[in-house]
Amino acid sequence: MMNYDSPYQALKESGIRDLVREFYRIMDSSPNYAELRAMHSSDLSGISENLGDYLVGWMGGPQIYLEKYGSVCMTGPHKSFSIGSKERDAWVSCMYEAMESLDLCDDVKMMLKDPIYRLADAVKNR
Ligand code: HEM
Repeated sequence: MMNYDSPYQALKESGIRDLVREFYRIMDSSPNYAELRAMHSSDLSGISENLGDYLVGWMGGPQIYLEKYGSVCMTGPHKSFSIGSKERDAWVSCMYEAMESLDLCDDVKMMLKDPIYRLADAVKNR
């Protein structure tokens, strides 16, 4: 039986920030994600903060990203990048690796995996 009703309750802001840090650490170091990495700026600190802000709200916590930027729609911020199935799958797989690497508990992974995939699919623009 799960004893929380949102991923935010389980992970708290600090756990979500850890997940984002691990996600970009893997993207930055694994040859599997070299192409995905190359689409990003050399300095990942800005996007780490933004993705953390975003995911805290998306996972059921305070709406930090919404308050800063006025919208949680992810289409706009990605429109200058060409994102097809290959890029979506690389992004999602990097995120799944980060979840495994931090050994998130199974019920939290169950809550996150399909919704994360659907979100990344919505960001796809070709
Ligand atoms: C679950 C889906 C995704 C979320 C929540 C997400 C979130 C974000 C956020 C919050 C930003 C910063 C934008 C801003 O605030 O201006 C961003 C930028 C970016 N995203 Fe995503 N993203 C997702 C999927 C993807 C996918 C599938 C790709 C595949 C290529 C991608 C590539 C990028 C790139 C290249 C940037 C710009 C990075 C930079 O400036 O260094 N994103 N994303």
